[in-house]
Amino acid sequence: MRSVSMVEVSRDRVMTSVQEKISPDDESLQPAEPCVIVIFGAAGDLTKRLLIPALYNLANGKLLPQEFAVVGFARHEMSSEDFRSKLSQDIQEFATVEVKSEVWDWFQQRVYYVQGNFDDADAYQKLKELLAKLDEEHGTRGNYLYYLATSDSFFSKIIQQLGDVGLMQEEDEHWRRAIIEKPFGHDLNSARDLNQSIGSVLKESQIYRIDHYLGKETVQNILVFRFGNGLFEPVWNRNYIDHVQITVAETVGVEGRGGFYENAGALRDMIPNHLFQLLAMIAMEPPLSFDADTLRSEKSKLLQAIVPMSEGDVHSHAVRGQYNEGTVKDKHVPAYRAESRVSPDSNTETFAAMKLMIDNWRWAGVPFYIRTGKVMPKRVSEIAIQFKRVPHLMFRQTAVEKLAPSFLVLHIQPDEGISLQFEAKVPGPVIRMGAVEMDFHYADYFGMTPSTGYETLIYDCMIGDATLFQRSDNVEVGWSVVQPILDAWKGSSANFPNYAAGTWGPQEANDLLERDGRHWRKIE
Ligand code: BG6
Repeated sequence: MRSVSMVEVSRDRVMTSVQEKISPDDESLQPAEPCVIVIFGAAGDLTKRLLIPALYNLANGKLLPQEFAVVGFARHEMSSEDFRSKLSQDIQEFATVEVKSEVWDWFQQRVYYVQGNFDDADAYQKLKELLAKLDEEHGTRGNYLYYLATSDSFFSKIIQQLGDVGLMQEEDEHWRRAIIEKPFGHDLNSARDLNQSIGSVLKESQIYRIDHYLGKETVQNILVFRFGNGLFEPVWNRNYIDHVQITVAETVGVEGRGGFYENAGALRDMIPNHLFQLLAMIAMEPPLSFDADTLRSEKSKLLQAIVPMSEGDVHSHAVRGQYNEGTVKDKHVPAYRAESRVSPDSNTETFAAMKLMIDNWRWAGVPFYIRTGKVMPKRVSEIAIQFKRVPHLMFRQTAVEKLAPSFLVLHIQPDEGISLQFEAKVPGPVIRMGAVEMDFHYADYFGMTPSTGYETLIYDCMIGDATLFQRSDNVEVGWSVVQPILDAWKGSSANFPNYAAGTWGPQEANDLLERDGRHWRKIE
């Protein structure tokens, strides 16, 4: 069960969560249990950009136990000494806060390295010996957290090898947990296979499937917003809500990841995971408690209620796009097909949008429009809820059609906050109306301590709280919703490129809403 505490909020600083507790003085959270974190793929990007800075922030917030060690495991030839000095350089570049030498010294004294191929049984034997030694030297008590920051093709293999060498077995006195990065499968069948294969070694309670969107404070805040206030939930249904729009737009392109992206595409890369997390948080029924399984069951139920698409529905309800050259933030961006390791006639989408209907009591008839894309005009993730118009307009001077609809917008990133757009009277002798906005920015109330977004997730895994991780059924139901679209798109070639870099996607994405008499909220 996630711990929740209440605090008086003022514009002065308040801290309640791991992400916020990067200041060392807050006593509300305790250090995690003694453990070793073993990072597979320790020489890669994720480790240096996010994992080590996140661990540093936890150390700085005194949330790591004294009895702690980090082991890097990768194919690169390196000694523990080399690994320490590499991390000492990297942290200077990637830390989200100024690095304090006393905290870093404490941390790096606990860093070790094992060189090996992921399928080399001897390397796992070496790892086992090192871990036993660390238990003695650092008092880590046999508690091991394995972080799989490798390509997904190694996930099964690593878990199997760890199982074979006896490093996954849990006994009363110690725990063994694995955090598994994204992508978890590339379609429904491969996700099922992966669940089955790791499930043959691990119990579900040992598996922590990560979706880094759940580490974002504002995503977690959706729950508090909906279920911690009496104000919104009564209108959170088909009687008051016209439709919902979810946008996750990025200004970046594929950033040298052409090889990976060619086999992924915007749909696989973002929708069954990140966008569905947002959808589930915004639309699920109130869970009975803030307990991991209760919450995850509600999320699965919501995704199961999405009306499955037939092949015909895919043509009318889903849109794909691929960017051509264009301009983003005053910079020229070449076409996707001109990126390195991308085929010159690539059929991979860099933009996806769709209309989903949720077949349950609360949402019957309310469309959820979702979209995501690369090289859009602005980096923005938001959920916009449009309320129904008033049934009768008593002000003669203003035509109903001219009234702006009321929108509640949850801003996920980069400027986290909540705003409510509604109609107000324009001052003057006649009744005229204009759209105004009430705006809440997190930064104004809580201050924002820069963080990687991984702090909460790593800490939660160390204390055994799986609330913010995906259960096997969550992952599979996400894939099952998008599977008909994957199938339909695979079997037909698209008319790409069909949008210019620096625009909001292809015209068909606008048509998707316009056909229903709606349009995307203008994002400035
Ligand atoms: C990753 C995707 O999961 O999420 C990337 O693989 C994408 O393609 C990234 O850029 C977006 O994350 P964020 O936190 O920047 O919105």
